[in-house]
Amino acid sequence: MKEWTQEERYRVLQDKSEIAELYEKIQTSDYRQTYHLQPITGLSSDPNGFVYHKGVWHLYYQWCPWGAVHGLKYWYHTTSADLVHWRNEGVGIHPDTIYDNKGVHSGSGFSADDKLYLFYTGNHRDENWVRTPYTCVAELTDQGQLIKHPEPLFGPHPAYTEHQRDPKVVYDKDTERYYILLGAQSQELKGRVLIYSSASLLEGWTFAGELKVPGFEDLGGMWECPSIERINGKDVLVFSPQYTTLPHRGPSTNHNIYLIGQMDFSKLTFTAEGDYRHLDYGFDFYAAQFAANVQEEDKAILTAWIGLPDNHYPTESEDWEGSLIVPRELRIEDNRLKQAPISGLSQLRGEELALDGRLPRVCELELTTTGKDNLDLAFFCQEGDKGGLRLVYDAQEKVCHFDRSQMEQRFNVAIGEQLSVPLEQELTSLRVFIDRSSIEFFFNDGEATFTSHLYPTATETGLKLDQGVQIRAWELKSSVTDDFIV
Ligand code: FRU
Repeated sequence: MKEWTQEERYRVLQDKSEIAELYEKIQTSDYRQTYHLQPITGLSSDPNGFVYHKGVWHLYYQWCPWGAVHGLKYWYHTTSADLVHWRNEGVGIHPDTIYDNKGVHSGSGFSADDKLYLFYTGNHRDENWVRTPYTCVAELTDQGQLIKHPEPLFGPHPAYTEHQRDPKVVYDKDTERYYILLGAQSQELKGRVLIYSSASLLEGWTFAGELKVPGFEDLGGMWECPSIERINGKDVLVFSPQYTTLPHRGPSTNHNIYLIGQMDFSKLTFTAEGDYRHLDYGFDFYAAQFAANVQEEDKAILTAWIGLPDNHYPTESEDWEGSLIVPRELRIEDNRLKQAPISGLSQLRGEELALDGRLPRVCELELTTTGKDNLDLAFFCQEGDKGGLRLVYDAQEKVCHFDRSQMEQRFNVAIGEQLSVPLEQELTSLRVFIDRSSIEFFFNDGEATFTSHLYPTATETGLKLDQGVQIRAWELKSSVTDDFIV
């Protein structure tokens, strides 16, 4: 693996010609996705600025141009009319001011008064590498010009550590004020959400206080990427707790959870109705963000990074890694989220396939089972049904056990290669979305999901099913353009 110097990681991109060769090189990779967003070169991580504005969905990702390394971060801009077909628009926000000299870090989008605003963290570091995070705003004009406000909205709060970032902006009708939720870490090294409020979007922001989330004060050492959305009169709070292990997550210390309850901005309190749940039970899922301005009361739209901080993926040797999930529609049923891939995705279906024991690299599968029988399935297994990503269903316990240790290309072994998904209902239906380097499972109409990167080799081409499993499969057409737009 390449060792990066600080200088290499934080090099400023001056001209697209500097990465033209890299772009050409990664086009030849066997693992480039076809219907998932991915970096044009280098690394993509968190989704940012996800918002519906004037008929267009805008979605950015954290981007480091130079390779599969977390260095100087840009926002890379993509757009879509339907959340299925995406096109590259080029760099969205450059780190080009004193406030973001070492990166434009994560944040959210907000559509107001016919204007599109992007709220982000300016990651400033001084010559001694001491970090000062600023909460900043920029406007994207209808002509596609980005205008950064010259001064940040506010700087860091002195009572918390340097970890204060990822502004999520919302408007609360009850208090008639705007709020920014920031992921933060207390001096006692606990994960927190800080709240700032203002009567107007672009000025007058003051610190309102810490968000109280009774019962969940000890959930990790930093809460990254808070996001909140209302679905049918209930609030869903999402964040990514770090520096702790959690049940069902193996030894990993990076997670993404949700709480359903009521948000009261006048009391700065989120009252959860029940325990937290994992947004996804898979190996690679993080920094999920709701789309803003969805305009439908009964559902929310969510995307996330297929990847984790502090981890490494096999395409690192090709100088790129990372991808975003297919956007999901979220509804609430029986006080838990039901997640489904964006409904328009079925437009991508091509021929229905007769699989005959072989698994295409890009496809959708629909499995139906009795729910009463144990199952032992393998995706991308070798000849003789050996290896592959194993999925064992224990019907009595209603648990799906995954094991990716038998794939040829193993990675991130230290966070464990086995994970389990506990189900509420018997497993009767399973939808699987496979792209060239990822796999997403939706159990029982989305009562739980499981997302993983996966890098099958030329001999890993098989699908092992069990008796009693009925399957339908479709090839999926490509929907993400991979143009070199910088
Ligand atoms: C989450 C995160 C955010 C931060 C960004 C930097 O993955 O650490 O908290 O803004 O990545 O790329």
